[in-house]
Amino acid sequence: MVYNGIGVRIAGTGSYLPEKIVTNHDLEALVDTNDEWIRARTGIEERRIAADDEPSSALGAEASLRALDAAGMVPEDVELIIVATITPDKIFPNTACFVQKRIGAKNAVCFSVEAACSGFVYIFSIAASMIQTGLYKNALIIGTEKLSSIINWNDRSTCVLFGDGAGAAVLAACEPEKNTYVCSKLGSDGNYSDILHVPGGGSCCPMSQKVLDENLQYLAMSGQEVFKLAVNSMVAAASETIEQAGIEVDAVRWLIPHQANTRIIKSVAKRLGVPEERAFINLTKYGNTSAATIPIALDEIVKANLVNAGDYMLFVAFGGGLTWGANLIKWQ
Ligand code: UT7
Repeated sequence: MVYNGIGVRIAGTGSYLPEKIVTNHDLEALVDTNDEWIRARTGIEERRIAADDEPSSALGAEASLRALDAAGMVPEDVELIIVATITPDKIFPNTACFVQKRIGAKNAVCFSVEAACSGFVYIFSIAASMIQTGLYKNALIIGTEKLSSIINWNDRSTCVLFGDGAGAAVLAACEPEKNTYVCSKLGSDGNYSDILHVPGGGSCCPMSQKVLDENLQYLAMSGQEVFKLAVNSMVAAASETIEQAGIEVDAVRWLIPHQANTRIIKSVAKRLGVPEERAFINLTKYGNTSAATIPIALDEIVKANLVNAGDYMLFVAFGGGLTWGANLIKWQ
């Protein structure tokens, strides 16, 4: 919807996946798992793992340059950079500043948002709102993760699920009739903060020998509990967003869900009444890349010409926090 007479459009998209592919069979050598279990329970076949000298900002910078190129912009044009990540290069400064430095976007204001797998949906809504106020004319928004840096490679219940990657989009102010951004619905519930988290290394449990001895520096998750909450929250966020826009679910050409598990995606699509073939799935190739899943999927859809002017696309995500949310886009 248009506010202050300012439309918001997606001017360009980009993504970057590290070169190294780790298959399910490769993981059989690390932990007591097998390709059949991973495919059946998650849908994942392989994931990408970043090199030692590729922190989240390096992945994000590459995706950003590709998005800027698609938008016909140079880094100096960028007014605002927002990064969504739970694997920052350092505790501080924020990862958006590192991306800024890497790409030379010297005129941008930079900050990061920590909303786990919902991160991109959050920053899409934040950046669009900041453009709608007239404060900024454009924003480079990036979901980037090096989850391999917080994974316990001896824990089969988590290490098979995640991967590294980045996706970016350039949002820009435009004429109202070219508006792409329809609306968003975001939600959070801190009461569930312990079911998907990194227990140690922060200010409540600073890094120590004890943290290392007990593996508290790694991602920990109550998988089944997260699964149920993921389906319910994604269905609610998607339904409320569609209702807010006043459209029918049949009008949604692409449901672009957070890529954690094909069973979650199929269940969300079924409950929403979206045909399975309209729910985009690429987790087979990349696993769960947290804040990066949706912008990577968006870039793949755009680059493969799978979306036409007038098509609605619904991003919907769920993650640690808990956080969840949806953005509705009408492609132009
Ligand atoms: O990004 C947002 C957050 N993440 C998610 O949305 C993930 C949500 N959760 C899930 O996707 C699923 O809960 C998982 C894929 C994590 C797990 O699937 P599940 O069907 O819930 O399996 P489970 O945890 O109930 O485990 C079933 C069995 C257990 O063995 P027993 O106790 O039945 O003997 C596990 O020990 O599978 C075992 N198991 C494995 N076996 C082979 C757990 N991990 C593995 C593994 N390989 N990697």
